[in-house]
Amino acid sequence: MLRNLFRKKAIGHIHQHSSLHRSLNLIDLTLMGIGAIIGAGVFVLTGIAAATKAGPAVVLSYTLAGFASMFAALAYAELAASVGGTGSAYSYAYAGFGEFIAWIIGWNLLLEYIMSVGTVAIGWSGYVSNLFEAMHIHLPTALTKNPFEEGGAINLLAMLVILALTGLLCIGVRQSVKFNAVIVFIKLLTIAVFIAVASLNVNVDNWHDFLPFGWLGVMQGAALVFFAYIGFDALSTAVEEAVDPQRDVPIAIIASLVVCTLIYIVVSGLLTGIVPYTTLNVRSPVADALLQIGHQTIGGIIAAGAIAGLTTVMLVMFYGLTRIFLAMSRDGLVPLVIAKVNPTTHTPIRIILIMGTIIALIAGFAPIDRAAELVNIGTLAAFAFVCGGVIVFRWTHPDLPRPFRLPFSPVIPLLGVGFCVYLMLNLPLVTWWRFLIWTILGLIVYFTYSYKHSVLK
Ligand code: ALA
Repeated sequence: MLRNLFRKKAIGHIHQHSSLHRSLNLIDLTLMGIGAIIGAGVFVLTGIAAATKAGPAVVLSYTLAGFASMFAALAYAELAASVGGTGSAYSYAYAGFGEFIAWIIGWNLLLEYIMSVGTVAIGWSGYVSNLFEAMHIHLPTALTKNPFEEGGAINLLAMLVILALTGLLCIGVRQSVKFNAVIVFIKLLTIAVFIAVASLNVNVDNWHDFLPFGWLGVMQGAALVFFAYIGFDALSTAVEEAVDPQRDVPIAIIASLVVCTLIYIVVSGLLTGIVPYTTLNVRSPVADALLQIGHQTIGGIIAAGAIAGLTTVMLVMFYGLTRIFLAMSRDGLVPLVIAKVNPTTHTPIRIILIMGTIIALIAGFAPIDRAAELVNIGTLAAFAFVCGGVIVFRWTHPDLPRPFRLPFSPVIPLLGVGFCVYLMLNLPLVTWWRFLIWTILGLIVYFTYSYKHSVLK
């Protein structure tokens, strides 16, 4: 049986026919990348990581997680340009390793994307309800917190934003991309304002003790803030909608990640420089820190910008999720009937609606930390696989045209695998258990549905 599974390799999957509309240029793609990357990670998890894991050395956590992401980004850039396919790591696995491995990877990507959109929606609702509080509008706690938080019943704000984005994605990608570009601009402006104000208010005493939790804390912090880098991989799901994917997708992946890495290092350094790290374990730490040092108005502006920023993360990750699902359903691994692309809007409306419903339920009822941990472990596994995939592809398909080649292979991809696995090992045991359960669930779905309905049969 296993032999049969591996025989299902299908390099013919490469450069498959597209029924999606090609409309994204380099600028659109880079803005999509930045739109997806800067979000709940820097705006929420930096505070939690500084206060509970790394202290001011959270800046080192960001550097470490940035290395892991950069190696993976180079690997994604090579595979996105050479293998292509709308399903990101799933498509590469399908082309190079056959259906079974592809299913495992695709199933993990679904976990990553579904949970990350849900996680960011929860972070978004935290900033929104704090902004309401600042305007003296008090929303009932039962409707703004999940049942695991004190006084909470349902996070209605988080659910509502997911429903709004579901509608936007149904209308069509071009409209969504324009919306994204405007908000990414606001997000970058917000961060520039934070950097300007914060750099005038640094108190170097706040950086002592720099390593309150030791190096172990830095590593655990890196495993948490890794969340902040997730998103550039969503660009690889847009190759079928890019005008010149082989040139533009690799450039956009690397450019957006470099911009975000620099921003994170500066922002995390400044955040722990303006207030004591012990005060940062709150729902909207970047805005709260400015309030603490007496900048009420700027704090409000930052909160509004963060809300806009988190919106684009959800939009792009949600977009990526539907494309991965689309790729999996084209291969018959999930029901084909769901893959139908609407001829008027050029969007897969059914997938968008189904995924929107699932994410809204997660956003309404799950706690943010649990959700973020699951995102990270699924993503790190996929990133490690993509890095390893570069080496395997060069060996099994040496003649495949590679418009972008990552340098120093196999050193860079091996470092990528090493960094990603190391960060996975720094995640809590309970996260590993949940990851295992999700994988077992995936195997059950594969053997009871996907294997029988696969288009390769
Ligand atoms: N990187 C994205 C964020 O920080 C997922 O929200």
